[in-house]
Amino acid sequence: MKIKSVILYIFLLFAFVFKINGETIIPITTNDISLIYKVDEKTGRLYQSYLGQKLSYDSDIALLPLGKEAYLTHGMEDYFEPAIRVLHNDGNPSLLLKYVSHENKQPQSGIHETIILLKDEVYPVEVKLHFITYPKENIIKEYAEISHREKKPIVLYNYASSLLHLNAEKYFLTDFSGEWAKEVCMNETPLTYGKRIVDSKLGSRANMICSPFFMLSVNEKAQENTGEILLGTLGWTGNFRFIFEVDNLNGLRIISGINPYASEYTLKPNEVFRTPEFIFTYSAEGKGKASRDMQRWARKYQLKDGEKSRMTLLNNWEATHFAFDENKLVDIMDEAVKLGVDMFLLDDGWFANKYPRKNDRQGLGDWDETVTKLPNGIGKLVKEATNKGLKFGLWIEPEMVNPKSELYEKHKDWVIHLPNRDEYYYRNQMVLDLSNLEVQDYVFGVVDNLMTKYPGIAYFKWDCNSPITNIYSPYLKNQQSHLYIEYVRGLYAVLDRVKAKYPNLPMMLCAGGGGRTDYEALKYFTEFWPSDNTDPIARIFIQWGYSHFFPAKSMAAHVTSWNKQASIKFRTDVASMCKLGFDIRVHDMNEADLAYCKEAVINFNRLSPVILDGEQYRLVSPYEGNKDHAAVMYTNENADKAVLFAYDINPVFKYNYFPTPVRLQGLKKDARYKLEEINLYKGTESKFKYHNKVLTGEFLMQVGVPAFSADPTIPTSSRVIEITEIK
Ligand code: GLA
Repeated sequence: MKIKSVILYIFLLFAFVFKINGETIIPITTNDISLIYKVDEKTGRLYQSYLGQKLSYDSDIALLPLGKEAYLTHGMEDYFEPAIRVLHNDGNPSLLLKYVSHENKQPQSGIHETIILLKDEVYPVEVKLHFITYPKENIIKEYAEISHREKKPIVLYNYASSLLHLNAEKYFLTDFSGEWAKEVCMNETPLTYGKRIVDSKLGSRANMICSPFFMLSVNEKAQENTGEILLGTLGWTGNFRFIFEVDNLNGLRIISGINPYASEYTLKPNEVFRTPEFIFTYSAEGKGKASRDMQRWARKYQLKDGEKSRMTLLNNWEATHFAFDENKLVDIMDEAVKLGVDMFLLDDGWFANKYPRKNDRQGLGDWDETVTKLPNGIGKLVKEATNKGLKFGLWIEPEMVNPKSELYEKHKDWVIHLPNRDEYYYRNQMVLDLSNLEVQDYVFGVVDNLMTKYPGIAYFKWDCNSPITNIYSPYLKNQQSHLYIEYVRGLYAVLDRVKAKYPNLPMMLCAGGGGRTDYEALKYFTEFWPSDNTDPIARIFIQWGYSHFFPAKSMAAHVTSWNKQASIKFRTDVASMCKLGFDIRVHDMNEADLAYCKEAVINFNRLSPVILDGEQYRLVSPYEGNKDHAAVMYTNENADKAVLFAYDINPVFKYNYFPTPVRLQGLKKDARYKLEEINLYKGTESKFKYHNKVLTGEFLMQVGVPAFSADPTIPTSSRVIEITEIK
């Protein structure tokens, strides 16, 4: 054991610290990435010398130019956006950070951490920069800890998690912005001199308009398998900000962190301000590799229960909205049994009595079952589900309140609102003040009371439909600028308690669709709801967008009645690319549709180790060409099993038009694979050219297969091909 530790120590020393010609060099590396810092011998300041593909030779690294200041402060000689800006208690607004030391750790097998300590020599302020690396997955996480020992508090105006410098001829930024039901539209634009800011100041439903992740191509627009690209995301379930600033020398500075908007932070002596984590990867082989690295890392290290299985389900929201009672729900459970899914999920509308939740204008906050609708309570529903062999899941929105509720009447002091102005509502509701410990107890209690009363509840869908409006905390009084931050900290405090007490309770994160989609929240949630838009055509785009950062298993995808012009097969095939569920009345389906869905569930369960835990390859982008085709495939770890999904989306047909064959990826060149079209609608035969044929990986990857149906009579059609190695 001792010898092992010594060897490890020597390895770490060798790998992460070296001095050449007296110059301190701090390489932060993964298998494919180098991020290199150097200390300027003359000034003692820390510089980022390099970020990009791995540099393997120390002799080269020694000759790298110094680069640009690593964690730029305000008030010195650099004229661009600082990573940190503070006001000392003597009124002086400057900061100059110098390198003091650094250390290397191995917090867990397969993970390394480097911590660089910087200090100001004039004021007792220090910053620790943390870099956590996942070498195999090529992920680097970065955050800062800011503290001081001045006599009185200082004020933080800027407090970035990360400042990265890139040096290239051209830069192209992809942001993922949109709206309710139109999430993650990918927009790629070139960056030229000046700043581009991507941020949110919505507070709770923080990502409703813009997502906390971006892609940055270097020199040329990266494609799926070519080009250099950085994928970055902030783990913060609140206001975020990314600044992309091209400077006078055409260098790009990327500053990531909490949005400091209306959030100057008064930091007490010895208090440590820990920024959220900025998580990134850098690929020289295009977006595909970067996404696969990110997805693999998420499953292994970040997403709650990332390596565990998921439950298929039937939800009642789209099927009933608020119009249900006990009998109807029991009927729907029978439909879940018919479909063969694992769980029934009861959505909004089951609670409140003084102001029953019959629409979204009242009842939120009063978490007792509506007796007129559910006279025997949730207990009876859990029992019914259990008797039918189903798990039972429940919707809650515990951070919110309708003004028309008993909670609001009793505890207006718990509601974020301006004391002297009219209230402004988003979806007729307001946000509870999670900076208040009493409110945290109450929100935790929503889950805890339900679980105590009904331990059979197996799942929660945790919703959050409103951004923070009327921003003022009755609790924080004269520290209003802390509210956006304390809100998120309060949320994590609650979620920590839920996770500690119910470690095996899966939960879906929802915020009026995809209004919360960050990796810190996903430590507590097994999946998220990408969008209320379940039109399968829109979903192809939405799932495509999110897949750049998130694994299929983290995204719930439901078959609904949105866009009935698309067949049940098309709708189900699209949902089968992520965590499959249904939100539809089965009794409205004809027999063939039901039979189709049942078989699709069976196939999904059989193939979920490939789809949910495998490597994803985006083959044909719905964003490109005529936007009329899309294809995605998944392979398992050994590449002996794969699934291909191919879609025609209102294709443009011309006489004698044949779409290009789709070249597969991720297979073994010399292996022989059998191709079989599955998910065939009752009574139809496969028209797929290679149905039940055997071809080599070489053929499939170099020649490709005519995956699209190209049938001019059908506006939307889909194919699912199971690919199995013949050994
Ligand atoms: C939000 C969610 C929906 C549904 C409704 C219920 O809009 O995104 O899935 O749960 O709330 O009110």
